[in-house]
Amino acid sequence: MRTQVGIVGAGPAGMMLAHLLHRAGIDSVVVELRSRHYVQERVRAGVLEQGTRDLMVETGVGARLQRDGITHHGLELRFGGQVHRIDLSDLTGGKSITIYPQGELVKDLTDARIATGAPIYFAAEDVGTHELDSDAPTIRFLVDGQEHQVRCDFIAGCDGFHGITRSSIPASALTIFERTYPFAWLGILAETPPSSEELIYCHHERGFALHSMRTPKLTRLYLQCDPDDDIGNWPDDRIWSELNSRFATDDGWKLNCGPIVQKGITPMRSFVAEPMRFERLLLAGDCAHIVPPTGAKGLNLAIADVRLMASALAEFYKSGSHDLLDLYSQTSLRRVWKVQRFSWWMTSMLHRFPHENSFDQRRQIAELDYVTSSRAAAQSLAENYVGLPFD
Ligand code: FAD
Ligand code: PHB
Repeated sequence: MRTQVGIVGAGPAGMMLAHLLHRAGIDSVVVELRSRHYVQERVRAGVLEQGTRDLMVETGVGARLQRDGITHHGLELRFGGQVHRIDLSDLTGGKSITIYPQGELVKDLTDARIATGAPIYFAAEDVGTHELDSDAPTIRFLVDGQEHQVRCDFIAGCDGFHGITRSSIPASALTIFERTYPFAWLGILAETPPSSEELIYCHHERGFALHSMRTPKLTRLYLQCDPDDDIGNWPDDRIWSELNSRFATDDGWKLNCGPIVQKGITPMRSFVAEPMRFERLLLAGDCAHIVPPTGAKGLNLAIADVRLMASALAEFYKSGSHDLLDLYSQTSLRRVWKVQRFSWWMTSMLHRFPHENSFDQRRQIAELDYVTSSRAAAQSLAENYVGLPFD
């Protein structure tokens, strides 16, 4: 089989890229390791930046998002038992965020892809990329035991942090920047209405906690835990008791509890692989970079990458010019590092660190106090949270 762009991975990056390329008249083949059901049911991100929402709507895949997405104009920072609202819309000239589960976004894009009739392979085994430095890099894989080979002009690595595309680049051609954090997030999905209309980022001496949501009947909650902790150590009662302690306010705020339908522990990491291109392989999303989830940025950054990549490929096929392709890594990385900085900053401000001393704790509280009392500081948080403008 021959195509213009071979896409490895059918997560947000891969499916948005396939969609944007189709709109630009560029052929692609998508190859995904997992089943369609698995990719859509995986519980992942929930917060879309204004620009991610706009892109879905402007490119014709936003109908369900407009109907079911929940628009938020602000968020809450909670510390010292007090609540402080950051008015995102007021601070950003009317921008907002949208709560819409990542699985639903992937479903919308996958439905659009399937409607075009263009090839997409799920449950592919032994996926490998070959001849990357030739004019026809190739993806080989098996489906139902049958071998497939796709010869491409370009390959887009959209296969997440544990995928194979980044590791198919010679180690000497990549520089890795990395930080791991001495904590993880225990995340749950509970069948109970959200306890607040907005997200709550909570700093507490027992550790960070986050209140989020998926639908008017489903609450998503996280709490900071030890990175080596086992989910088996966290029966439901212990989770609710810990969440109640951390979210407690001086005026007796109450958290809605209900059946926990999903729980898991996620490690926290900051990671960047540079450059985001090797010959005819272009990387996007989590396979090139990971941010700790405190800024709600991973999915949004993946979408920003493929937006740039699609424009660069469109220019190449329209005019034969390599200019945007040659700038792809450099341009993407400018945004990647700003988002890394913001995610690191939110993480550092809100979590307890094992070796911090009383000076560090006072400094953290002073930072939260500053962010919630200075318009300039709040504006800096807000413009990053709703999403920086595109280059
Ligand atoms: P992925 O979603 O990882 O998709 C990669 C795809 O490639 C997968 O479907 C995978 O099965 C496939 N694949 C892997 N290996 C192969 C292979 N060998 N061959 C073929 N296919 C392969 N981000 C936000 O923006 N907002 C949030 O609120 C937010 N919250 C989060 C909460 C949690 C608990 C977690 C874990 C993440 C959160 N994120 C958030 C991050 C976000 O989920 C990721 O950044 C996003 O999924 C990245 O998309 P991607 O397409 O790059 O990678
Ligand atoms: C989520 O709803 O899953 C979520 C929200 C905000 C974050 C991270 C995750 O910062």
